[in-house]
Amino acid sequence: MSSPHFSVSDTLGILRLAAESPYEDEAVNQLQHALQTAQQARDAGSDDVMVAAALLHDIGRAPAVLGYYGEGVHEYVGAKFCAEHISERAAYLVGQHVPAKRYLVATHPAYGDNLSAASIRSLTRQGGPMTPAEVAQFQAHEFHKDAAQLRCWDDGAKDRTAITDDLSSYEDLLYRVWSGSTSADPT
Ligand SMILES: [Fe+2]
Repeated sequence: MSSPHFSVSDTLGILRLAAESPYEDEAVNQLQHALQTAQQARDAGSDDVMVAAALLHDIGRAPAVLGYYGEGVHEYVGAKFCAEHISERAAYLVGQHVPAKRYLVATHPAYGDNLSAASIRSLTRQGGPMTPAEVAQFQAHEFHKDAAQLRCWDDGAKDRTAITDDLSSYEDLLYRVWSGSTSADPT
């Protein structure tokens, strides 16, 4: 198997740099947002791929990743990253985190009440609530409930005061899921 483009340590570096970028109009930066999303996945006892997908769900916003995969909406750039570096399941979870918002708005009326103002604003740009046909198509995927769950963690990861584990605590987990990785220290 050929080595993926970005190593685990490159990826941790990209996430560290994300601390310098605001997360849309929210009160957290992009690193805090990633850590808070992953923390909820970890606290729920999720498997490694689910935790990695939570941590990396917005990796498609990073300039280094956009520069490598080309322009595109961040969820699909992130999905390309995860397909190359982790697995198709991780790619699906990351690629669907925006459609999952459209799904939840259409199927769970109370869900929309808890969205942040920025998230409500972006919903229109993202296509608004799913149509019944889109809902049926979304529900046909075997991992759609995981994608919806990840979306709920994403929505709950905008708390300026939340305490999370450090980024370094995900290093071993990323090595376990990384394509072509055979050890926690491949150097
Ligand atoms: Fe997010």
